[in-house]
Amino acid sequence: MKILLIGNGGREHALAWKLLQSDRVRQIFCIPGNGGTATLERCQNMALSLSDFEGIARFGLVNGASLAVIGPEAPLAGGLADFLNSKNIPTFGPTRNGAQIESSKSWAKELMRSAGVPTAEGKTFTKSQRGEARAYAAMARTPIVVKADGLAAGKGVIVADTLEQAHQAIDVLFQGRFGQAGNSIVIEEFLSGQEVSLLALTDGKTVRPLVPSQDHKPIGEGDTGPNTGGMGAYAPTPILPPHLVDGVVSRILEPVVGALRDRGIDYRGVLYAGLMVSPEGDAKVLEFNCRFGDPETQAVLPLLETPLHELIAACVEGRLADVTEILWKPGAAACVVMAAGGYPEAYEKGKVITGIDAAEEMGAIVFHAGTQRRGNELLTSGGRVLGVTGIGETFSGAIAKAYAAIEAIEFENSYYRHDIGYRVKSMSNEQ
Ligand code: AMP
Ligand code: GLY
Repeated sequence: MKILLIGNGGREHALAWKLLQSDRVRQIFCIPGNGGTATLERCQNMALSLSDFEGIARFGLVNGASLAVIGPEAPLAGGLADFLNSKNIPTFGPTRNGAQIESSKSWAKELMRSAGVPTAEGKTFTKSQRGEARAYAAMARTPIVVKADGLAAGKGVIVADTLEQAHQAIDVLFQGRFGQAGNSIVIEEFLSGQEVSLLALTDGKTVRPLVPSQDHKPIGEGDTGPNTGGMGAYAPTPILPPHLVDGVVSRILEPVVGALRDRGIDYRGVLYAGLMVSPEGDAKVLEFNCRFGDPETQAVLPLLETPLHELIAACVEGRLADVTEILWKPGAAACVVMAAGGYPEAYEKGKVITGIDAAEEMGAIVFHAGTQRRGNELLTSGGRVLGVTGIGETFSGAIAKAYAAIEAIEFENSYYRHDIGYRVKSMSNEQ
């Protein structure tokens, strides 16, 4: 089987690495790929623009690709899955209509309401309703959450502690800080608890969850400072033990897939629920994503035992019900993201990276995100540069391995959080 893999992040390196563990996967074409996918055996990068749907389809057909896997949300929201499917390249990833579950928070809210899925109470306002939005915030209790309705790379959410901050947030979003994404906004109730990412596979009928994970979105230790795409993740998280996962599948994921079907949407791909879990174990939806999480995938896939291409093929071919069990390795995995100094604001590129071989010799898996090769050198080319994943019998073992390995890697101005998984350490059930 030859596979087109779309994207260039740590998620895509992890997907390629996992898919290539099976001999059945003869070749991966990663569009555009990064410095990590460039060196995987049987994986070739191809520098095509993600908006060049025609070019991507032509390249796939000429090279005999029988499956496409789309990593990031933007091409899904833009209709790349619709296009590739129409060109007879079966594609893992929802159609443009299905991707609205991530690309429009107001659409997702409406879907959740119709499916009776627990989520924060909230309301949508368009630019012309600035006065109503300010009045709604004034009536509500603080803290309150103000969100850009459209895609903003995980950064379009402002938690306002005071009414003044809420009003500022409304103004900032409507003034276009996140471009078109802020043409409308959602104002919603603040939920407290622990955040969990539950990624599930679906063929539009059946839902099969992966192990639950926990991301760390803010840039600073102790979850301070602005949000990023995610600074580290571990799996499985004890915050959502298996019986609670079952509840999320039956009370949230299955009703949502049913509601999508009711709207004529045949959703084949990953449905990622960002959940807030209360101390009593009640889960409410913060948001849905229409794809694998990043960095969550870099912690989840190393634990997966069942061949990934079999699961993906079952989704694409509409026979996920036949996959009665997904097998997992025992133990835990933890991924620490190394970023360029300055991220998520302005940062420099082109810094030489050293020490990856040494880190891998220490038993870690180093996934590349913002890297590119120039001759024999590996250079930084993005905000999140690497994801260093450790695997262990326990969470403590996994995280220790990741941090030991990260010490071996150097580039100028590198930054990482030293406290990934700190909530697990404070939970009593960690051995
Ligand atoms: P989202 O992109 O909707 O997941 O939001 C990004 C981050 O903002 C989440 O990971 C949460 O940390 C926070 N957030 C979003 N919605 C809420 C909410 N209703 N209550 C509390 N925190 C929230
Ligand atoms: N790590 C959060 C996301 O992938 O959206």
